[in-house]
Amino acid sequence: AKNVGILAMEVYFPPTCIQQEVLEAHDGASKGKYTIGLGQDCMAFCTEVEDVISMSMTAVTSLLEKYGVDPKEIGRLEVGSETVLDKSKSIKTFLMPIFEKCGNTDIEGVDSTNACYGGTAALFNCVNWVESSSWDGRYGLVVCTDSAVYAEGPARPTGGAAAIAMLIGPNAPISFESKLRASHMAHVYDFYKPDLASEYPVVDGKLSQTCYLMALDSCYKSFCDKYQKLEGKQFSVNDAEYFVFHSPYNKLVQKSFARLLFNDFLSSASSIDEAAKEKLSPFSSLTNEESYQSRDLEKATQQVAKPFYDAKVQPSTLIPKQVGNMYTASLYAAFASLLHNKNSTLVKMSNLVVVYQPPCFPSVLTRETSFSLSNIATVMNVSEKLKSRNEFPPEKFVLIMKLMEHRYGGKDFVTSKDCSLLAPGTYYLTEVDSKYRRFYTKK
Ligand code: ACO
Repeated sequence: AKNVGILAMEVYFPPTCIQQEVLEAHDGASKGKYTIGLGQDCMAFCTEVEDVISMSMTAVTSLLEKYGVDPKEIGRLEVGSETVLDKSKSIKTFLMPIFEKCGNTDIEGVDSTNACYGGTAALFNCVNWVESSSWDGRYGLVVCTDSAVYAEGPARPTGGAAAIAMLIGPNAPISFESKLRASHMAHVYDFYKPDLASEYPVVDGKLSQTCYLMALDSCYKSFCDKYQKLEGKQFSVNDAEYFVFHSPYNKLVQKSFARLLFNDFLSSASSIDEAAKEKLSPFSSLTNEESYQSRDLEKATQQVAKPFYDAKVQPSTLIPKQVGNMYTASLYAAFASLLHNKNSTLVKMSNLVVVYQPPCFPSVLTRETSFSLSNIATVMNVSEKLKSRNEFPPEKFVLIMKLMEHRYGGKDFVTSKDCSLLAPGTYYLTEVDSKYRRFYTKK
């Protein structure tokens, strides 16, 4: 199959959220820490009636309905998530009734779990399948979903929640340049969930920031090498129209993009003009290790990057700033934001780079198909979804977090079944019985 990629997309995030400004005041953080310091506007969270399973059910049914895809047409279903509700039974199996109803149980794929990377692993699995000799001509379906919650403390404002479904097939308006993928994998204790009784991660915030930048450097270098070999010319940030980042919080995205310009400076790439060279040359002799710690370098690169950032990165920041970190879904929520903001102009453009661990290189093609970029933007209806949310006061938010802590891993309870805040068509949790079996219904 040729030009394999994303044919259709649907985004779901809970309609319940808290303004970062309000949370900041409640937490006693200095004014501006969450909004300017972390760069976040608002944070979505699941109440007791929602979880990664219900959000995935909502996203998948909505995608199939809105794009008119017959459930029988799905041949592979891959879920990326690090929100573990069951150590054996996959989230995928909870989605199977949607397909079983139509007599389709012949669907490959399972869940992929590895922190935020699981979503990208799921996507690559589907793309590779469609490109392979095992492909049976049907669509692949990818779901990235997480409920990102942290214990009380400095990490709590970097939570979020969402599910994103993506339909994968040939002749896609968003196709992947599979030869230009670059990955970085390493063994680090920066972010992990060793306490199986708790939904909260153990996180070393500072180390996780450095790890992100190191992985980014490594992927960017490897990507640039591959680009040079394939295209016969050096890559710089000038060569991509847009950059899309995994977004734990927006400040890290600003710093990460600036870091790419530092990479361009070190390799004398074309994005660096004389003025930028002058600003960055005092840092040319730093060791790699020193460069991650230097606040002055961070400031200088952010200055150099600012005009590039506004044009090439800002259009992809909307949902991550409004919803928060969505772990596996974060990168794709950034991508959805770009489609939302730029779908009409994207058709005229050639390249964009998606950066995460790993960056890949989809090209947005001009081909006319029933799955068009403008249709994706219309279906996702991001503005309306953001507008129709309900802002919670911090006291209520804290109570919900406490209840969720208590419920996590629990059995033998019924939820309030209060779905008044959910949009019609949203799935929600009604009960977990004495055998831990979970029951959902559709509003
Ligand atoms: N006005 C403006 N800016 C402020 C203010 C203020 N009043 N107060 C602080 N700031 C700035 C700080 O200077 C800092 O920005 P800088 O890094 O540009 O200097 C920023 O706000 C954050 O302040 P810190 O003191 O660094 O915040 P803290 O250490 O308390 O927590 C952290 C931040 C580490 C990101 C925490 O939220 C966390 O651990 N989050 C989870 C881990 C995470 O998301 N890691 C990212 C990659 S891994 C992943 O995807 C999960």
